[in-house]
Amino acid sequence: MAAATATATAGSTWALEMHIHADYTSERIMTPNIAISFVDESSGDEYELHLSKVTSAPWQLPMVGSEERFGAIVTGEAQAPADLSQPGACLVVFNHNLWSKIDRLYFAKLTAITKSQPQARAVSFLTNSWVAGGVKRIFFTGQPSLPDGTPPGLMEARQKELASLRGEDPNTEDEGPRSGADRIYAYDVYNDLGGAGQGDPNRHDDRPILGIQGPDAKLPYPRRLRTGRKIDTNGYEAHLAPGTTPWVPYDEKFFASKQDSFSVAPLYAIGAAASSVVSQLFGAKPDINQFASFSAVEDLFSRESAVPAAKQDIMNRIDDNPFDLGDEALRKAYKGFPDTVRQAVEEQLGSPSPVPTWFPLKFLFRNEKILRLLQGLLARWPMPQVLDQRKITWQSDEEVGRQAKAGCNPFTIQVADKTFLDDSKLGPEDFAGLLGGMTLQDAISQRTLFYQDYYTVLGEGIAPQVQKLLDKKDKAVGYQYSGRGVFFQCPETKALAIVVIQLCEPDTQHWQLYSPIRSRPEIWQLAKAVYSSLDSAVHQLISHWLKTHATMEPFAIATRRQLSAMHPVFQLMQPHFRYTLDINANARSTLINAGGIVESIFTAGPCCMEFSAKVYGATWKFREQGLPADLMARGVAKQDADELHVNADELLLKDYPYAEDGLLVWDAIVEYFDMYLRMYYSDDVGSDKHVKKDDELRSWYHEIQTKGHQDAKDVNGDCWIELKDISSLVQILATMAWIGSAHHAAVNFGQYAYSAYMPNKAAFISHAIPRETVDTEGRPTGPLAELLNDYEYHFLRTLSGPIRALKTMLLVKTLSNHAQDEEYLGGASTEWALDPMARRAKAQFDVSIAEAEHTMIRRNKDGKSRARCSPSGIPYTLLYPSTQTQAVTMRNMGMTGRGIPTSVSI
Ligand SMILES: [Fe+2]
Repeated sequence: MAAATATATAGSTWALEMHIHADYTSERIMTPNIAISFVDESSGDEYELHLSKVTSAPWQLPMVGSEERFGAIVTGEAQAPADLSQPGACLVVFNHNLWSKIDRLYFAKLTAITKSQPQARAVSFLTNSWVAGGVKRIFFTGQPSLPDGTPPGLMEARQKELASLRGEDPNTEDEGPRSGADRIYAYDVYNDLGGAGQGDPNRHDDRPILGIQGPDAKLPYPRRLRTGRKIDTNGYEAHLAPGTTPWVPYDEKFFASKQDSFSVAPLYAIGAAASSVVSQLFGAKPDINQFASFSAVEDLFSRESAVPAAKQDIMNRIDDNPFDLGDEALRKAYKGFPDTVRQAVEEQLGSPSPVPTWFPLKFLFRNEKILRLLQGLLARWPMPQVLDQRKITWQSDEEVGRQAKAGCNPFTIQVADKTFLDDSKLGPEDFAGLLGGMTLQDAISQRTLFYQDYYTVLGEGIAPQVQKLLDKKDKAVGYQYSGRGVFFQCPETKALAIVVIQLCEPDTQHWQLYSPIRSRPEIWQLAKAVYSSLDSAVHQLISHWLKTHATMEPFAIATRRQLSAMHPVFQLMQPHFRYTLDINANARSTLINAGGIVESIFTAGPCCMEFSAKVYGATWKFREQGLPADLMARGVAKQDADELHVNADELLLKDYPYAEDGLLVWDAIVEYFDMYLRMYYSDDVGSDKHVKKDDELRSWYHEIQTKGHQDAKDVNGDCWIELKDISSLVQILATMAWIGSAHHAAVNFGQYAYSAYMPNKAAFISHAIPRETVDTEGRPTGPLAELLNDYEYHFLRTLSGPIRALKTMLLVKTLSNHAQDEEYLGGASTEWALDPMARRAKAQFDVSIAEAEHTMIRRNKDGKSRARCSPSGIPYTLLYPSTQTQAVTMRNMGMTGRGIPTSVSI
């Protein structure tokens, strides 16, 4: 050990306090065996502490369902030798008992206080981490420091800890499958979604690897967390063993309450069970591939209207609290299921034997998720907002436009200009009578014409590929259109109505043009529904999965690998990565994988992720992901506006709730980050605190560009924001925070409201829209005649059938949930910043966010916005930062339709 410095006192007495808890277990923590050492910040010497006067008090944690949970607050005292000048870090070892199930502890808080004179002080260590049994962990103090400002005694520890997290430590080699307590963050390609048959000719999971690996590879993609699982000769990662969950480091794993909320396993089970359930309980006829009528679709939600007798009978067996079914109620209800339904459920779930009447279901299925499935089948799903008291409105031209500005995919509407006219080859005759008396030229020059492009990428390659696959399948239905929708903004009312739809047929490559003037009403209605299915696919695969989930993962990995926990940027950004690695790993194993839920509901089927990859390669630019830059790139805000700030009156697309509310949130983030970063950095080029002198920060950003997002090339220098000063760092970090928080909230939590009602956003198109064929006497013929003869039947036949509709509904219901332990922008959260200055900045941010919410509430009430307040409008609540006024209840299952979690966590 090096010689002690500073104080010459005879040692000091320190009082320690730890807030710890275990994983979800009924076992109580009593007094755990924890060894603690201080690391001197000047010398780096370690001093083992011998705790005395140890006490342990129960610490009540948030409940999970009806389960109470407790951690422990452990206190003790220790003498530190006089050599210790100042503890800069703490080493912790949890010596777990072999007879105990508690093999790791979560450290939420660790403080040390000494009252010994003259160095009376308190030290808080930044923990918020799991400590696995037998593993020595280091926690630095919460005082943030740039690399050059690291206390000399901690420099080596800082670098060693980062090397370990990168897998460079010889003790944590970056080889072999990760498991359990491993804490290694590395990158990998998406080779875990399928496999080239994996040697089994009966398997149909042949999917390309996403992420360019060689000269022939063509599918760029963000990287994911490497798990080290075995790779086969074709480069595919070994599939997960049945019944296992993907590995992520303990610090990334959902807490128990989150696990309870997100369970996709029932969605699989529903695949088999749904067919029987739908056909028998929801009035589908004549077979389960077809909804008989709009009212049959609505029966999924409505108890008051004519509920099919079988479902009513089951409902009558349960109590009046459909989401809170006890074991007994479930068992009785299950017994009341038609035999075929029970059989389907049991086959799918692998139940070994018929259900004994006396046996609790919980033990039979041994799985909470299965109970959820049954609850889901029995539940009265809430009426989706898009339909609730708007039985006709959802079909209107204006509503399609309103949803482009205030629905769950407000990211694709862009200004129509001359380039658009050249690409689409649309001319004045196509818009005759549709522009409120304006000429096409005037509409373009006055910026009242907008469009959504669902042709580029989709129509150019994916749609024909999908169609070939579909055509190969025997009796397969499915028709993968691509196209564009054109919208006119009324100069007086600012209403945005869809006026023209261009659809490209995948098999013939012919373009069909539809408009309310050119097309029969029945055909126009069908064209809008088919067009909305393109919006639905782009929403889920691009705006949601690609642009939030997949995009954020490399940022999260790089932050762990390159920024020390001591780094102020690590402490600022960590809330924005909470649970992202876990939700993505789960999604890759159950949602977007070969044969997963996503493929099973969208027309693009096995090509869904390839579509996502091609869009990433063709269009994704980091610098356009922040809100002002995104609005400018789409031409809906003035082009010369500042990328850090756009005024609402600079919006060219008017009455655009997503942008108007989003700018309030964006501005609050920018103001907070700017204040925070100026505490630690200086723009003085000669200063050690200049961003360019920060080695960790530069390595971090370089690695994001060259490893995590290595396929997003900076060809014209317009993909990445140059890191040159504090403002550019604010923009970089605010863009990441925006993607993980508000962007995700805007696309995620309104999914049930808009997509649960299938006709509004069908995921699947089964047939082409009939051509307008007539005989010599002008009478409709062929499919057109059939459509006109039985409009409801043929309209619904073109869209998702009951099974897909039910699966979609369950998917969006799961994804629209807020978990009990969600942390919201501007709300109470895990304490990552312990620096008092940083805490003050955060407190100010919380005030700004609360003010933003007040403004949004006022906008929804003041009657000025047609999109929010008209008889056909819907209040835009998706960017209300808090979710508090509508608490999560068993009845709404967390679907509050509001609240901005800090991170992509579901
Ligand atoms: Fe999500």
